[in-house]
Amino acid sequence: MKIELIQNKVYFNNGVEKKEIHPFWLRERVNNKEYLDSTTQQRLYDPTFLNNNVSLNKVNINENYLEVDFNDGTNSKLEIDKIILEFSKEDAVVKSIKKIKWDSTLENIKNFKYQENFYNSEEMHDLLISFYKYGFVIIKNIPTTKNYIVEFANSIGSVRRTNFGEYFDVKSKPNPNDLAYTSLALSPHTDNPYRNPVPCIQLLHCIQSKVSGGLSTLVDGYNVTEDLKNKYPEFYKILTEVKVRFKFIDKEVILETISPLIELHEDKSFKQVRFSPRLDYVPILEKEKLDLYYQARKKLSEMYNSDTYRIEFKLEPKDLMMMDNYRLLHGRTSYETSEGERYLQGCYIDYDSTEGKLRHLKRKFNL
Ligand SMILES: [Fe+2]
Repeated sequence: MKIELIQNKVYFNNGVEKKEIHPFWLRERVNNKEYLDSTTQQRLYDPTFLNNNVSLNKVNINENYLEVDFNDGTNSKLEIDKIILEFSKEDAVVKSIKKIKWDSTLENIKNFKYQENFYNSEEMHDLLISFYKYGFVIIKNIPTTKNYIVEFANSIGSVRRTNFGEYFDVKSKPNPNDLAYTSLALSPHTDNPYRNPVPCIQLLHCIQSKVSGGLSTLVDGYNVTEDLKNKYPEFYKILTEVKVRFKFIDKEVILETISPLIELHEDKSFKQVRFSPRLDYVPILEKEKLDLYYQARKKLSEMYNSDTYRIEFKLEPKDLMMMDNYRLLHGRTSYETSEGERYLQGCYIDYDSTEGKLRHLKRKFNL
């Protein structure tokens, strides 16, 4: 990839094709101190106020810089490497981490251990990479006092507060407003599909576990839906197309969104799964279409609930699990309250927290 000049025009050549770079695009990147704040890298002017007829009077390549004289009297030196970086990838950090699909045979996944100066360490960088590969990560030795989960969340990014509070206690209690707060088994589901936007990442921190049951379960929704696409393409298609209503009703609030069970990006790649069969309501469609939809949903549910895809493990006190609520489904096995206490704390953070932290750590350690 390189920058080339022809008759006072700048071209970007990626080896396959050569395209002219718009002079205005270059003008917006002028980094002279009267135009750009060097600390925040934010513009000190509004480019929509510039004249659209920006052109180049003169342009030179001098070692690693593009020296440009614009027709509005501005001169600037632009770093060629930075220009090339903007052309090379949409997002050089997060999108370059390839998801690793997994099923019940997953083993030897690395656990991380909390220690001093953890949040700004290279270990935290590795943790985030692992999180993006597998969709979850387990961190051991997290302090269990003073709702430490909130400090953990805020040390990566910011807690995403919901109507369940800044954090929530997961233990059986009388008159629960959600089945999570009972000792019943919970089949694989995603959290809060009725929220807009759905919280991206859930943290679950084990404070106490004196019961023999209550195992945590996880399923890779990305792997399951990719298998569904290959084996049952018609089912996959209808589940990506039909939007269903998810609703949550409480004393103080009614939450509702309308979305498909499998949501794709514009390029048809995986974006998000939603699955919470106690809360979803499919719209009225032609009977034939609903026939197909119900078959598809049943098949997807069978796959999510099958032993083939599910891993089960016990969270011990001080273990904190961080899981991608757009990619994974989670649940638990039932437990006996007479055996003792099972007490977890949970909270949510969003992708901007983990993405921002990862970019920062890459910059810090030059990775
Ligand atoms: Fe949940």
